[in-house]
Amino acid sequence: MGARKGIIMAGGTGSRLFPITGAVSKQLMPIYDKPMIYFPLSVLMLTGIREIAMITTPEDQPQFRRLLGDGAQWGLSLTYIPQPSPDGLAQAYLLAEDFLDGAPSAMVLGDNIFFGHGLPELLTAADTKDAGGTVFGYRVSDPERYGVVAMDAKGAAVDIVEKPAKPPSNYAVTGLYFLDASAPDRARAITPSERGELEITTLLQSYLHEGTLSVQQMGRGYAWLDTGTHGSLLDAGNFVRTLQSRQGLQAGCPEEIAFEQGWISPEALHALAMRYAKTDYGTYLLGLLAEG
Ligand code: G1P
Repeated sequence: MGARKGIIMAGGTGSRLFPITGAVSKQLMPIYDKPMIYFPLSVLMLTGIREIAMITTPEDQPQFRRLLGDGAQWGLSLTYIPQPSPDGLAQAYLLAEDFLDGAPSAMVLGDNIFFGHGLPELLTAADTKDAGGTVFGYRVSDPERYGVVAMDAKGAAVDIVEKPAKPPSNYAVTGLYFLDASAPDRARAITPSERGELEITTLLQSYLHEGTLSVQQMGRGYAWLDTGTHGSLLDAGNFVRTLQSRQGLQAGCPEEIAFEQGWISPEALHALAMRYAKTDYGTYLLGLLAEG
């Protein structure tokens, strides 16, 4: 078994955010001072994953390439894979099968923003589990909008359903999935849902039915932010702004994570910082160097 590889699923038309997504991908929209995609990318980097596939629509791929390049500036190796039509999240495992080449994976949705103390430890725990899958349950007030997981008294998953009219619990399944090497085979075996998509929830059900799906709680100390409406997108930006200006620390900063992981040298960080010399972001990166 090879090292775990990453997938960022950033396809979709962004139709719920029209007209701002009319010409630019949703996952490139600003979350205050950074493109949205920096946040899910940071989650994979915090897990220690350096080989990452970016799945986007064919039309949006040039913009992602322009922003992120081949990833070498952050010590990463990025592979771009087009999703010609939006046939569901589970399709990612078919599109990325050659890229994965038998490795286990961590897939994160390009519009999911996670923040919380202890996140690296939570990610490491999921990463170390070899067989089966791990998902993260997060309590929300509107579970019917998400995949929902029901648990027994011991916290073991007993049911997982996509956007149920009558949610069996208040725990949404976040868009972060650690799955073993069998995910592509399982994706091939599922049939499209009523809305014509290969649902990630159907794929997760196959693990659940075998008793190999772990559910980790992301407790009240975590923020899992929604970016699905104009209002929630603005709220997410304001949250990040409030946090960053109060603490003087960046959230979702790939340069910082790459530097802390030892993937880029101080000289490389300095060069990246100088690109952003006119911004607080650049000043922050220079500050990291000064701190050592
Ligand atoms: C998707 C998944 C859903 C999950 C959600 C998390 O929903 O289908 O199970 O809870 O992402 O963001 P979508 O955003 O495609 O409606």
